[in-house]
Amino acid sequence: MKKIRILGTGSYVPPKVLTNEDLKNMGLDTSDEWIVQRTGIKERRLAGQHEATSDLALEASKKALDMAGLSPDDIDLIIVGTITPDTHCPAAANWLQAKLNAKRAVNFDITAACSGFIYAMHTASQFIHAGSVKKALVIGAEVMSRVVNWKDRTTCILWGDGAGAAILTADNKGHQLLSTHVHTDGENGKDLLVPGGGSTVTPITKESVERGDHYLNMIGANASFRVAVRHFLDSIMESVEHNKVTIEDINWFIPHQANFRMFTSIAKSIEVPIERFYITLDRYGNSSSASCAIALDEAVRDGSIKEKNHVCMPVFGGGLTWGSALIKW
Ligand code: UT7
Repeated sequence: MKKIRILGTGSYVPPKVLTNEDLKNMGLDTSDEWIVQRTGIKERRLAGQHEATSDLALEASKKALDMAGLSPDDIDLIIVGTITPDTHCPAAANWLQAKLNAKRAVNFDITAACSGFIYAMHTASQFIHAGSVKKALVIGAEVMSRVVNWKDRTTCILWGDGAGAAILTADNKGHQLLSTHVHTDGENGKDLLVPGGGSTVTPITKESVERGDHYLNMIGANASFRVAVRHFLDSIMESVEHNKVTIEDINWFIPHQANFRMFTSIAKSIEVPIERFYITLDRYGNSSSASCAIALDEAVRDGSIKEKNHVCMPVFGGGLTWGSALIKW
């Protein structure tokens, strides 16, 4: 089977910063101390009023193309992992294609919440293996601030906006994407839910908006914390065992950036110092599908990831969805 390669990465976060102190000043009954202690988040980024998911994705994509030395015309496939597309129809990937002027590409979105970037890499790899795609642009991009209930202190403190991208191909040069694994548990999907705006509830009504059905609900935040840690651990072991490497061989863990306490719990279980976890959570919060893609790009660009380093990217999110990627840089 052909080896999948990563030719370039890119990321973008909007310039507007919202600190924990800002949240308090907005009238939220919270404190910087509580948020930092319980989550590790100090601040997050917010998209501008006229910035949609495809706008953030566009900036990340341009940087990834630039690193790969490619032009938009070289791209055959665009997949955007997102739960905050610009519109329900067409897909965020279609808006992105138009803005990027990637005329040859076929595009679609993947709804896998915080696992969206890994799902996108997994799906693009199948197209490349099948031979119908030569170069794919995969993205995790979110404007979570549009689906956050800013009055709900248990959820609104968590989320941020941003985008991360990678270019995949099957050339014999580039960094190796050794494996991707993805899993789904639809039965427990309601734990992280946007109940309104789909076909379950009557299409958006005054009443559904008043109920806040269009906001992201985390019904089982505590339960999902424990489930997340278990799936992160399972995903790490699955990727390590599949590739016949050991935990010691992994230079960097770049998990979905959900909660610092999750990282410490995972690090303790696999007996790895927390310094081997690459963390952007403190600066960007949880940007769902974008979070691990942004972290990967930042780790590449600041020189943390060195040639031949093994990078393990376990993810977990609403759906429920989870999985991993293992990269040899
Ligand atoms: O990206 C997908 C994966 N992410 C997840 O699955 C999220 C997983 N869950 C979490 O990260 C954590 O459960 C949270 C950060 C959401 C919550 O942290 P927690 O330590 O589980 O807090 P809690 O919900 O058990 O709440 C503890 C207390 C409660 O007060 P009482 O009932 O003990 O008086 C809350 O009302 O903290 C209170 N609280 C807050 N206090 C100050 C909840 N949110 C806040 C807040 N500021 N923002």
